[in-house]
Amino acid sequence: MRIGVYPGTFDPITLGHANVIARSLRMVDRVVVAVAPNPQKGPLFDLRERIELAKIATKHLPHVDVESFDGLLVNYVRERGAQAIIRGMRAVSDFEHEFQMALLNRKLDEGVETVFLMASEEYSYLTSSMVKEVASLGGPLQDFLHPDVAKRLEACFQANS
Ligand code: PNS
Repeated sequence: MRIGVYPGTFDPITLGHANVIARSLRMVDRVVVAVAPNPQKGPLFDLRERIELAKIATKHLPHVDVESFDGLLVNYVRERGAQAIIRGMRAVSDFEHEFQMALLNRKLDEGVETVFLMASEEYSYLTSSMVKEVASLGGPLQDFLHPDVAKRLEACFQANS
């Protein structure tokens, strides 16, 4: 069984993330969506909510687990019995950071590979941060988020206005 770990902050999970997960299922038998606490990023949704939203956004996909992980990603990948870290790459601007992370993770554990999937063109501009900005300004979210995730994000800003 080939397992890929798709790590991220997922604050919140977007249609771009779901697209990468769906496409990675062509390469691996199971994808573990691994939600990092990343408190230093000041996430809008707490860890429990980010896991719940990731489950909602991937419930149409078979062979996907959503979990959280703490500590080093490579340790989690080993513990989970996975072979690879899956990351989406949107544009050249993602490259440097992704390159650094992949090399660092390889240094930490040579047995763990990082596999990059190019984002689909329709999602290549999409980031969770930009979607939050659109939501905060009352813009439409249907092209970016699963409808139930969009409702939850809209509710955050209605509650705060
Ligand atoms: O969605 P993001 O914010 O780009 O994901 C970042 C993530 C979760 C991949 C990164 O923060 C991470 O790997 N965190 C775990 C800690 C770790 O292993 N750090 C060393 C490698 S960067």
